[in-house]
Amino acid sequence: MARRLLTALSALSLSVGTIAQEWPYLTYKTAPFQPPQLNITTSGAPQAPGYLFIGPRGNQAAGTAALIYDQDGNLVYQGPEEVTSNFKVQKLFGRDVITFWAGDMMSIGYGYGTVHFLDNTYKEIYTVNLNGPFTSPNGTAMPSYIDLHESKVTNRNTLLVTAYNVTQQDLSAIGGPTDGWMLDGQFYEIDIPTNKILFKWSALENIADIPFNGSHQGLGKSGSSQEDPWDAYHINAITETNEGYMVSLRHFWSGYYLYKNGTIKWQIDGQNGGDFNLGTGNNFSWQHDIRVDNETSQGLVLTMFNNANTPTDEGQPTTGLSMALDLVNWSVTNLKTLADPSDEIHSVSQGSYQPLDNSVGHVVMDYGSIAKVKEYDAAGNTIMRAQFGPDNDVASYRGYKSQWVGTPFWQPAVVVENNTVYMSWNGATEYDNWAVYGAQAESASNKTLLSTVARTGFESSTTLNQLTEYIQVVARKGTTNLASSNITSTQ
Ligand SMILES: *[C@@H]1O[C@H](CO)[C@@H](O)[C@H](O)[C@H]1NC(C)=O
Ligand SMILES: *[C@@H]1O[C@H](CO)[C@@H](O)[C@H](O)[C@H]1NC(C)=O
Ligand SMILES: *[C@@H]1O[C@H](CO)[C@@H](O)[C@H](O)[C@H]1NC(C)=O
Ligand SMILES: *[C@@H]1O[C@H](CO)[C@@H](O)[C@H](O)[C@H]1NC(C)=O
Ligand SMILES: *[C@@H]1O[C@H](CO)[C@@H](O)[C@H](O)[C@H]1NC(C)=O
Ligand SMILES: *[C@@H]1O[C@H](CO)[C@@H](O)[C@H](O)[C@H]1NC(C)=O
Ligand SMILES: *[C@@H]1O[C@H](CO)[C@@H](O)[C@H](O)[C@H]1NC(C)=O
Ligand SMILES: *[C@@H]1O[C@H](CO)[C@@H](O)[C@H](O)[C@H]1NC(C)=O
Ligand SMILES: *[C@@H]1O[C@H](CO)[C@@H](O)[C@H](O)[C@H]1NC(C)=O
Ligand SMILES: *[C@@H]1O[C@H](CO)[C@@H](O)[C@H](O)[C@H]1NC(C)=O
Ligand SMILES: *[C@@H]1O[C@H](CO)[C@@H](O)[C@H](O)[C@H]1NC(C)=O
Repeated sequence: MARRLLTALSALSLSVGTIAQEWPYLTYKTAPFQPPQLNITTSGAPQAPGYLFIGPRGNQAAGTAALIYDQDGNLVYQGPEEVTSNFKVQKLFGRDVITFWAGDMMSIGYGYGTVHFLDNTYKEIYTVNLNGPFTSPNGTAMPSYIDLHESKVTNRNTLLVTAYNVTQQDLSAIGGPTDGWMLDGQFYEIDIPTNKILFKWSALENIADIPFNGSHQGLGKSGSSQEDPWDAYHINAITETNEGYMVSLRHFWSGYYLYKNGTIKWQIDGQNGGDFNLGTGNNFSWQHDIRVDNETSQGLVLTMFNNANTPTDEGQPTTGLSMALDLVNWSVTNLKTLADPSDEIHSVSQGSYQPLDNSVGHVVMDYGSIAKVKEYDAAGNTIMRAQFGPDNDVASYRGYKSQWVGTPFWQPAVVVENNTVYMSWNGATEYDNWAVYGAQAESASNKTLLSTVARTGFESSTTLNQLTEYIQVVARKGTTNLASSNITSTQ
């Protein structure tokens, strides 16, 4: 395998050094945001309806935040400047909510943070933290030990999260020190309102079924100190299944199906099949986002983002995989291998595979360390390409397309510069025009309608012939008022 030169780029943390000044960004009068411009191209079949949800970070001056864009590349929502992951819409207690992880990311690609739940007004309704006797590389206690890789709400309204624990371990089986250091890969099922731990699983506690020699992550220089633990497993996706859980261990090129008690029922290994006869077209490596679909006692569909590359080794082009696993004769049948021949990608880390339920057969893939999102139609054609940064310079851990109705609890913003009125309502999806009112006083009850303006993306503007002393703008759907700005002095 060819050696890749990716200096200062570790698996997940793209350290902020030189700014990616080549990449254009958007600016506004009414908000201090600088999100990356989304370069969108489309072809073929119509796209599925929905907005793009990404969380870019890396070598960019600003715009490290949870971002929603529409299909024309207009910003719809920007959250606070912070490192996020898994920004998406999920169902909780029957309602659509926004969920995302925010926190600190470590250099070898895991993190310590919190999972946030926002309702459709963007009010934080739940905040999930994880505490316990965890060890961090420098021994400092962290406010919460939820890792960035997973924030899945289950169909029983609980939360599945991953956690990485630094622990001392005999690594002589793989040529390391007997008093070595490594990262255990754990996951937790948590009750969302109370943060109570309902279930805990540890890869290290299953060492008999997941022996160290199955790891494709060489020790290298790691493993001899607490500060530099060996990342044996790299746990990165958890899904609930009919009989328990499905776990993805990137460094084992494997998915593990667990019973509810955590015992491994079967393993699918991307190289040798594990408990399956892999057949052709189904091998995978360094994967992310393993999911289970259409599960019965006889079989299931497994989907994943098959990186097939690491920061140090270039492999085959990255693909999206969908495979039927037969649980009677333990065979695997390839259903889809998604790739875009006109723009071949080698994604060395991160990434996601999202089957869209509102457009059957469509799949959205976020390419992780490559700042691109693509939509494939049911026949596997690429029908949408969106880029938000230079290759290997800006990343989004995962990226999604979702329908979403947002009616923020905050007011619209208005800025008047000379005779031009600028207005926006961060996060609002439902308004389509603005009414601009003039008033003589802040408390005026006799406002005058000066202008109506069609919505143009995130921010709209209109130039007035004559300014009144005060201005108020109202976001409307047709002629229905949705929300008003303050009455603002134009002085
Ligand atoms: C955006 O995409 C177009 C068409 O593919 C390309 O010509 C242009 O260079 C891209 N812009 C950036 C900033 O990459
Ligand atoms: C230890 O590491 C954490 C996470 O990177 C960091 O926030 C903290 O400042 C470090 N503490 C010390 C004492 O270096
Ligand atoms: C983390 O590892 C330490 C050291 O082995 C151990 O004492 C602790 O119980 C572990 N924490 C969890 C949550 O498993
Ligand atoms: C890995 O170790 C296990 C037991 O620890 C052993 O049974 C197995 O043969 C080893 N596999 C390889 C490929 O060395
Ligand atoms: C876990 O559950 C499975 C299925 O019920 C059972 O076969 C297995 O023995 C259990 N493992 C333990 C450790 O109890
Ligand atoms: C799958 O197997 C083929 C043939 O052995 C190999 O060329 C390819 O690199 C493998 N792909 C992955 C993702 O492991
Ligand atoms: C699950 O089954 C439904 C109905 O047959 C099908 O439309 C859908 O594509 C399947 N999901 C996957 C991921 O294959
Ligand atoms: C296993 O079952 C699948 C689906 O029923 C079938 O397509 C395949 O040929 C079978 N494979 C073997 C090896 O029997
Ligand atoms: C506003 O008008 C003044 C005076 O005409 C001019 O100097 C200034 O550049 C204008 N500002 C903007 C932002 O257009
Ligand atoms: C609006 O009210 C102000 C203060 O009450 C008054 O001076 C002004 O004449 C009124 N304007 C109109 C158009 O009624
Ligand atoms: C509107 O006015 C209130 C009260 O003065 C203030 O607290 C709030 O920040 C203002 N809202 C905006 C969007 O400026």
